[in-house]
Amino acid sequence: MSVLGDVRHLVLVGLPGAGKSTVGQQLAARLGRTFVDCDAELERRRGMTVAELFALCGEPAFRAAEAELSGELAQTAEALVIAPGGGWVANPAAVATLRPAGRIIYLRVSPPTAVQRMGSEVERRPLLAGDDPTASLVQLLSHRGALYMLADLVLDSEALTVDETVDTLEGLIGDLERA
Ligand code: S3P
Repeated sequence: MSVLGDVRHLVLVGLPGAGKSTVGQQLAARLGRTFVDCDAELERRRGMTVAELFALCGEPAFRAAEAELSGELAQTAEALVIAPGGGWVANPAAVATLRPAGRIIYLRVSPPTAVQRMGSEVERRPLLAGDDPTASLVQLLSHRGALYMLADLVLDSEALTVDETVDTLEGLIGDLERA
């Protein structure tokens, strides 16, 4: 429960490679909250990877599943730390479920930094499957940048380590929850 007694899920958004899962896991541990990685949860439920879900069921089915999971999480009585996939912000049905109950934090990094951080994990992202993942991220950011900026908090994490990012967020949580 938050200081106000309301449920205030913390929702980390940003490009693939921004560090949502790593930061989310550590932030949740610091705050004594449960962490939910939406992609991992969908993979667990469907028994297949996100790449397989995209290939076998199509992106619209993935987005529908993402929105359904967001709706479920919004109903959770316990305040969570949630890391949806990078495209969640462009899925209005999903955002609408968590927006009233959650506080959205944008972990902002540039496409080259995101690609560097992903390393070989970039291959797990179906939307970055081409020859030039940086160019793909630039393209995604051109569509999503304004949506990411609607977050309650924008944290420039380009030059921050994971520890520094978690420290900064921990220090800002009180303000964010009262906002
Ligand atoms: C996506 C990002 C991925 C995953 C899916 C689609 C996107 O999550 O949800 O591949 O649209 O940017 P990460 O941001 O965790 O890589």
